[in-house]
Amino acid sequence: MDQRKSFYITTPIYYPSNKLHIGNSYTTVAADAIARFKRALGYDVHFLTGTDEHGQKIQRQADRAGKPPREFVDEIVSWIKELWRLLDIEYDDFIRTTEGRHKEKVAEIFKRFYEQGDIYKGHYEGWYCTPCESYWQERELQGGACPDCGRPVELVKEECYFFRMSRYAPRLLEYIETHPEFIQPVSRKNEMVNNFLRPGLQDLSVSRTSFGWGIPVPFDPEHVIYVWLDALSNYITALNYGEADSLMERYWPADLHLIGKDILRFHTIYWPIFLMALDLPLPRTVFGHGWLLLEGGKMSKSKGNVIDPRVLVERYGSDAVRYFLLREIPFGVDGTFSLEALVNRINTDLANDFGNLVSRTLTMVERYFEGLLPTPAEGGPGDEELSKMALQTPLLMEEAMDKLKISNALAALWRLVSRSNKYIDENLPWELACSPDRSGRLQTVIYNLVESIRFVAVMVGPFMPRTPARIWEQLGIGHRGELHTWDSLGSWGRLEPGTRVARGEDLFPRRNLPEELAWNRPKLEMEATGSAAVPPPGEAAAPGLITLEQLRRVDLRVARIIEAAKVPGTDRLLEVKVDLGQEGQRRVVAGLAQHYRPDQLTGLQVLFVANLQPVKLRGILSEGMLLAAVDGKERLALTTVDQPVTPGCKIS
Ligand code: MSP
Repeated sequence: MDQRKSFYITTPIYYPSNKLHIGNSYTTVAADAIARFKRALGYDVHFLTGTDEHGQKIQRQADRAGKPPREFVDEIVSWIKELWRLLDIEYDDFIRTTEGRHKEKVAEIFKRFYEQGDIYKGHYEGWYCTPCESYWQERELQGGACPDCGRPVELVKEECYFFRMSRYAPRLLEYIETHPEFIQPVSRKNEMVNNFLRPGLQDLSVSRTSFGWGIPVPFDPEHVIYVWLDALSNYITALNYGEADSLMERYWPADLHLIGKDILRFHTIYWPIFLMALDLPLPRTVFGHGWLLLEGGKMSKSKGNVIDPRVLVERYGSDAVRYFLLREIPFGVDGTFSLEALVNRINTDLANDFGNLVSRTLTMVERYFEGLLPTPAEGGPGDEELSKMALQTPLLMEEAMDKLKISNALAALWRLVSRSNKYIDENLPWELACSPDRSGRLQTVIYNLVESIRFVAVMVGPFMPRTPARIWEQLGIGHRGELHTWDSLGSWGRLEPGTRVARGEDLFPRRNLPEELAWNRPKLEMEATGSAAVPPPGEAAAPGLITLEQLRRVDLRVARIIEAAKVPGTDRLLEVKVDLGQEGQRRVVAGLAQHYRPDQLTGLQVLFVANLQPVKLRGILSEGMLLAAVDGKERLALTTVDQPVTPGCKIS
């Protein structure tokens, strides 16, 4: 029996309806960093990821691609596994919901719910969003569309089984109120409680009859089990729930379900209720992280603005991409991906701060000590501060990681990198090298720097798993595994004087920003597979026409004009500031000055193209377009809506 403390961490299981983009990869990279961190600390970690392969959405995509669903998903699942390999994702298990080990258990769970009266048969009539695989009531729709993703919903009328959610709602509410660590970040807890639990939970439809790609209800095979009940169960079926050799005892309850904020409702309401019905303890924490946005809004295939993670990894290496994702965006809130920000992180944090520290230190060992690590001799300024900080950094990182503040953990580590660089500037080793009576001091300074690099290399490993080995090589300690461990950070000065070091290639070559930006877009954007972005076979548009999917690539919104002003030095142009609600505010330059006075525009709600490539006009960055009817040469009328709506809402 393993005596170590266990840590069970999961990612969402991804829909293999499309290749994954950098936004989806974000969750898995974060989960991997957390899992590696816990392993480094000595935990018995179980890290689960996988794919969610049933449901109407997958069936439709497969139909469009002209393939049987299983064949369709097999290809994408291989692609996803390859992506995880490229990103150095070290999972312990990968579950596919089409595997026997999962399907059998889900059928048993469903049967148990039915037998204990949690599930009953009835009729459902309401709205369904297939991309989200989500039911909605009429009053919940926004502008007739799915309130989560804004896409069209379909009317569903069918016989189905229902789960009595209401039976467990009071217990769940109490649990949430008494377990502040359950839903994180805390702001999301209030959203779940106030928007869903307090207004009263409807019973949930948990089977479908209108398509067949799913796990059949064991006692009524006309029905397939609702894909979210099927999918959520993966967290226990992967542990062989209900089997004699189950891993449940070792790993359940999960310590952390890491998910994106858009699927929090499923994980903090439905999933705990299913677990209560199974008499199982609830996961310790469900953490809903923010979205990775592009300048034009959330990345999504239907908007055609997704970034291909493979291309990024190929060009910059997985460590740099991982570092960027984990450092740039405080974990929990939305963040924007831009190539410029990525290149800046590579140039400043990785090349200038970290890479430079390693290369200049090792150059000095070669130059002043013929490549042999010197013995520390004479103490001096900064020694104690440096070693103290190095010894304290692991603790600061542990504290930050416990709170899932991944970027703070990295920031703490980079403070040690900066302190080490400052130590060089304070001690000026090249001057010490000029005076023979300072050689003792020079020995200490160089020794301390190399030891500090060792500390940084150990601590950076969970986030950038390829970097430590490259550093061990240069420090000449590749074979000294005991110097690579988190435990070895308990005391300062473990490196053996006399060790032969050898400066290698630069760890992180600097990038030329203009060159990277010129290389940028077309190569980064993904070509889609059987997906929304490509018209499915038989649905290609006739000459002069566009398909519905092509139309959907235009992100049309209602923008509320906040203010407008003339662009100085022009007759035609107005600079207009608009509100797009949750998408934030934008500025556009529009040729309206001969048709409207600025003050006439304030408050108007106008149709707006939100994913237009930004352009600079008269030095002002214009991000979008206001739509107007152009009636001959003289008349122009902005297109508005006939009743007030929420700013930013979609036009479909
Ligand atoms: N199959 C369900 C999950 C079932 S879990 C029992 C699903 N799959 S998904 O492939 O659509 O999404 C998987 C995850 O990717 C979600 O956590 C979602 O939040 C995340 N992301 C999708 N786009 C994203 C960004 N642009 N940014 C960050 N995360 C993103 O939902």
